[in-house]
Amino acid sequence: MSKFSNYNFAGQKALVRVDFNVPLDKQTAAINDDNRMRATIPTIKKILNDGGSAILMSHLGRPKDGPEEKSSLKHLVKHLSELLNGATVLFASDCIGEQAYLTANMLRPGEVLLLENLRFYKEEEKGDAAFAEKLSKLGDVYVNDAFGTAHRAHASTAVIAQFFPAEKRMFGLLMEAEVASAEKVMHETKKPFVAIIGGAKVSDKILIIENLLERATDIIIGGGMAYTFMKAEGGEIGNSLCEEDRLQTALDLLKKAEAKGVCIHLPSDSIIADKFAADAGTSTSPSNNIPDGWLGLDIGPSACDQFSSVIKKSKTILWNGPMGVFEMAKFQHGTKTIAAAVAAATDAGAFSLVGGGDSVAAVNQFGFADKVSYVSTGGGALLEYFEGKELPGIAAIKE
Ligand code: 3PG
Ligand code: MG
Repeated sequence: MSKFSNYNFAGQKALVRVDFNVPLDKQTAAINDDNRMRATIPTIKKILNDGGSAILMSHLGRPKDGPEEKSSLKHLVKHLSELLNGATVLFASDCIGEQAYLTANMLRPGEVLLLENLRFYKEEEKGDAAFAEKLSKLGDVYVNDAFGTAHRAHASTAVIAQFFPAEKRMFGLLMEAEVASAEKVMHETKKPFVAIIGGAKVSDKILIIENLLERATDIIIGGGMAYTFMKAEGGEIGNSLCEEDRLQTALDLLKKAEAKGVCIHLPSDSIIADKFAADAGTSTSPSNNIPDGWLGLDIGPSACDQFSSVIKKSKTILWNGPMGVFEMAKFQHGTKTIAAAVAAATDAGAFSLVGGGDSVAAVNQFGFADKVSYVSTGGGALLEYFEGKELPGIAAIKE
């Protein structure tokens, strides 16, 4: 059993860093996607069920100049209480200061205190030690459950850990599960290992592809970034997305892959459109021979077969980034087909990890979230993990 599971929180005030950076409706401040909140509920429940209380701290958005209405965590209080079966959730309108300390002090077992947005203080992102120390005074024990923010060396995610003795700082259940699944892909890899990388830009994915070249058997490249590779190899890509300044990078990656014996799979064909719009005229074309005035917005039928057969023979699967513009019905077939292939491989015994905002939205939208092994709450954090970087939020607990 893990440190967190073994810990008895009875009579303890647990200071828990969560990642409640959820999308809010611009007009109504309603929560558009509560997955990150749901993901950390088991951690909070364990603390409360033990007879402890939980003081939750998080950021929301990227406020630049102190407090602002639209980034207030007060918008989450009611829903959080519902997710906790009606548990009392108090709110402190300042994450440090008198009200926060008084409320934390009088918090009773089974109760929750949610602190206001940490980023209303610039000290949070600066990793200011004095600010971290002030936060640390709010709880007896520090639990980090914020995998989504683990790549930030901020006051509440990393710096704060030093103010708790080793036995009083630990991962929460979500963080444990995230780290365990990431390690399964990165370090306990069963081969063949396929990485499916999509999304718009090559420039965002260079480091992860380079690191995966050391580990993967196959790398599937889809989404807008595939056309930069197509053009680099001399293809005609019409008006498709292309990063002209990354053509050489794309060629270098292909060359490195060949030298390392890693198979890179580019989509043989594409669904092309006469404009970037949901009602565009469409056709199918080889991905390296797209007519002028047309642009590739999804992988085509042959590419779907080509990619699915690679995925279905794999034992480990990492998926980051969609295959096309799946938000539009005409261009969602590729991403949907890949989701189905990942689900089929998982059913046949493969371990599959899906992470990064858009691919997670896709598996949720198409109903495959419970048919893959693990859906990560991390976007940037997961990417940096697979780039081979040490995440400050993880390192601080381990030190
Ligand atoms: C995220 O959503 O990427 C995390 O919550 C971290 O937020 P940030 O990118 O603004 O640091
Ligand atoms: Mg981010």
